[in-house]
Amino acid sequence: MAHVQPASGTSRRSFLRAVGVTGGAGAMFATMGALGLAPTAAYAAEKEAPFRAPRRGDFTLQGRTGRPARVVVIGGGIAGLTSAYELGKAGYDCVVLEARDRVGGRNLTIRGGDSVTDVHGVTQTARFSKGQYMNAGPGRLAQWMNTLDYCRELGVEVEVFTNSNASALIYNERNGMTSPVRYRTAKADVYGYVSELLAKATGAGALDADLTADDKERLLSFLRGHGALGGDYKYTGTEHRGMSVDPGAAGQPGEVLGDVPALTDVLASNVGRYFSFEFAYDQAMLMFQPVGGMDAIPRAFARAVGHERIRTGAAVTGVHNTPSGVEVTYTRGGRTEVVKADYCIATLAPWILARTPHNLGSTVQTALQAVRASSAGKIGLEYRSRWWEKDFKIFGGITETDLDLSHIWYPSYGHLGERGLVIGYYNTGSNADAYSALTPAQRLERAVAQGVKIHGEKYRTELATSFSHQWKLIPHIEGAWHSMSGGPDAPAFAPLNQVQGNVYFAGDHLSHLDAWQHGAISSARKVVTELHQRVLAS
Ligand code: ALA
Repeated sequence: MAHVQPASGTSRRSFLRAVGVTGGAGAMFATMGALGLAPTAAYAAEKEAPFRAPRRGDFTLQGRTGRPARVVVIGGGIAGLTSAYELGKAGYDCVVLEARDRVGGRNLTIRGGDSVTDVHGVTQTARFSKGQYMNAGPGRLAQWMNTLDYCRELGVEVEVFTNSNASALIYNERNGMTSPVRYRTAKADVYGYVSELLAKATGAGALDADLTADDKERLLSFLRGHGALGGDYKYTGTEHRGMSVDPGAAGQPGEVLGDVPALTDVLASNVGRYFSFEFAYDQAMLMFQPVGGMDAIPRAFARAVGHERIRTGAAVTGVHNTPSGVEVTYTRGGRTEVVKADYCIATLAPWILARTPHNLGSTVQTALQAVRASSAGKIGLEYRSRWWEKDFKIFGGITETDLDLSHIWYPSYGHLGERGLVIGYYNTGSNADAYSALTPAQRLERAVAQGVKIHGEKYRTELATSFSHQWKLIPHIEGAWHSMSGGPDAPAFAPLNQVQGNVYFAGDHLSHLDAWQHGAISSARKVVTELHQRVLAS
């Protein structure tokens, strides 16, 4: 979401959230009323309409026993699999065409032995050891996301994904930092000084127009705790910063980390810019991941849909409405084949559908072309030892940097084990494009050279093997997520939000949660509902 990708306009949800933040709940209710949303509870604005899966009984209740409608689903990613799975519950005859050699789409887990060939013909084969894996695409699930509902329903075991960790690091080279600082230290300093300043302003009467005497007292009490301020409301550092010597037995109280930087240096380091990430609705802890790799989700979906209904290696070459349904042509193993069906749900990347022959009309074509592919890439670095746990006491979480690697993710699995796999870069936009322009060996060299600045030589010497993945270079996908001016409800994208003849469109880009499986699922459920209602009414 916005936390790794540029915002693409203000959604109704984020707009209301902003009103809620700045104006409080009363202002939010008033605004929602003015918008005609008439909520009965604050959370109503956050909730999508409850989804009701199609059921066989929906037909039998109408006394219908005929042939089930046939639906061809283009794309075996999360939107396509959700569509086929949900329609299958009511007995629809679905076939899923997936161009790549496995289902999942951008939900991709790389393990030892996996090979990926990019659009330039460059092949990498992962040499990760048994048990080590890299989620090249989605890596985290928030507690409220419908993805977890499917994990429950499909029996996918999950574990905590550590999205924020007080022991992880921040390193802003461009802001003059010469060594990393721990999150807890950076937070203590920023919150400490901000609290001190606010306490000072309060004490000096600068906020008298906004605060009663009681308010002031309560605010000062909050600031004293929040900023760990001294009796005179001064910030001088406390154990919130960390300890240079950990507390031990009697006689060993430990030592609080010293050398509190001056306020001006804290501000200059710009460490505070990372703190809002963990408040975001889509990124706040706790977060989760499937045990053993994110692709447990598409695997479970594929089992539930039925492998016999899924054709991998099937690259679509034509999508055409016909008077009685749809015809979708595809090539598979060098042969051209055709699927005739009553309906189609097209979940493939919009930029790929845009260059696929179709008769969906010029407004659809214009809308498809208006969606731009965004870049993201990751590198998995497998290490012979878990030096980040042993030497740095970092167990999961993310180090933030202003280097072009952007984020380093420590694994949230296999703690205390022998080997481990670090995501050595997870970057987006021009940083991802810069890495895409390199060979895999050059990407590794560049990522390691930067990681050494943060973690020292072990970042290089303990390395066993690596694998890099650039989404813009992946055939049949060619993008990490989407840039859509004005968001999915902008008039430019209206043709994709409604059925065109017998063809429906679904995908995370047609949701308010682009770049999340939740978005793909929400969009799929919307078209499943529309298609089912249409069939029931026919
Ligand atoms: N949903 C993606 C992430 O969390 C963009 O990084």
